[in-house]
This record gives sequence, structure tokens and C-alpha cells, in this order.
Amino acid sequence: MLRGDSDNQLVRTFRPRRRRLGAEMGDVYERLIDRWSIDEDGDPIDPSAVFGGESRTILEIGCGRGDLAVSYAVAHPNDALMAIDVHTRGIANILAGIETHDLGNVRVIEGDAQVFVRRLPPGSIDEMWVFFPDPWPKVRHRNRRLLRDDLIATLTEPLKVGGVLRLATDIEDYARTASSAVAASGRFADPSLGRPDWRIETVFERRGVREGRDAIDLAWTRVVEPSC
Ligand SMILES: C[S@@+](CC[C@H](N)C(=O)[O-])C[C@H]1O[C@@H](n2cnc3c(N)ncnc32)[C@H](O)[C@@H]1O
Repeated sequence: MLRGDSDNQLVRTFRPRRRRLGAEMGDVYERLIDRWSIDEDGDPIDPSAVFGGESRTILEIGCGRGDLAVSYAVAHPNDALMAIDVHTRGIANILAGIETHDLGNVRVIEGDAQVFVRRLPPGSIDEMWVFFPDPWPKVRHRNRRLLRDDLIATLTEPLKVGGVLRLATDIEDYARTASSAVAASGRFADPSLGRPDWRIETVFERRGVREGRDAIDLAWTRVVEPSC
């Protein structure tokens, strides 16, 4: 699927890609997508009802290949994870992981997080992860960054008070501009630094390490009620 701007008002934060799934992954995708996915757009949903329990609910935005989503869900069976990306290949990888590990605590969303967060009621999730977001290094592309001034409030509206927004990036300037955007929103406490022990190294992180860049992990706790 090639994704363009999914909504004329939305600034695209990802790079469109058209890559076909091979026969094996295509089969996994076709067999499992309806069972384990949530539509990008539609009426509001109650995440705890989706997972049928009292689980802590997490949204991973830009899950890429989905390796972290699968490893986290395996290691934390009592947490519920929604993983979203616009690219079908990663979604298919997660579906394969769900089947291999017999996971019931993961759902995938194939689409734009800017659209999907509108389905999540204010205060309905415990954590939001943005790990190695597209860096958009050129100054004229900065308005495409996910964690930016004009998007942060809407994007994080589903986070409950006490909920945590996590960022990992190996681009210092991204960490800096995201920090000022989060601070300017007035909704979060000062960030804590440090890599969670469950955050495995992904392909994107490994590439940065090879090129001499270290990851910066930041976590902000929400302190102001949503919709204030
Ligand atoms: C650089 S990759 C990192 C992937 C993964 N987090 C990792 O660490 O390997 C960024 C991912 O974010 C996705 N992405 C960017 N904007 C998005 C959006 N608005 N909604 C969903 N996914 C998005 C891209 O498609 C891409 O797969």
C-alpha cells in the first residue's frame, strides 16, 4: 500500500514506500490482518474493551519492522500493546510474531498515527512510544517531525495523567526540539533520561551506532488532565 497524506489537513511525517510483500508474508498478512488489526479511522474505541481486561495499554507509534512490539508483548503478557505504522511490511512481521508466539496482547494499526489517535478517548492509554522517529534533518522539513509544537497536544491527548510519553532518538537536535515542544505543551513533568531495559536494539538504532550515534532516551510523565 502506498500512503500519501491521509488527510489534507495533516502534514505527512513518514516517507511513502511501495514494497510488495513476498508470498510467505503476503499469506501471513491476508490470513491474520482482520483478526488482529484495528482500523486507522472510525468511531472512538475503548482500548481496555479491545483487550478485554484491566491491562496497561501502550501505543507504539512508528513500530517499523515490529521487532520491539513482539519482544515486548512476549515479555509482558499482562500489558496490551497497539503498534501502528504506515508500512505494511512491519505490520505483517508483527502478525507473524503474534502467530509464532500465540500472543493475545497485541493489535496492529496500518495507518497514520495522527488519524488513529483521534479514535482513542482522552486519558485512555498508559504509555505512548516514539522510538527512532523519522528525523527529517533538513530545516525545511522540520514541520514533518512527529514530536513537534503544533502536534504534541493532539498526539498525546489519549495519555492519562501519570501516563508516560517515551522518545528514543539518536539525533540530538530531535531530542532538543521534542523536549521544547513537550515542555511548551504544559502537560508534562520534566523528562527523565535512561533506556528502559526492555527496549531492544532495532535496525534503525544499529545503523546509527554503526555511524557513531548513540541513542538518547527521554520519558515524560503526564501531569495535566487531557482536554484541559
Ligand atoms: C525511522 S523508522 C523507526 C522504526 C522503529 N521505531 C525502529 O526503531 O526500528 C520510523 C517509522 O515511523 C513510521 N511513521 C512515521 N510517521 C508515522 C505516522 N504518522 N504514523 C505511523 N507511523 C509513522 C515510519 O513509517 C517508519 O516506519
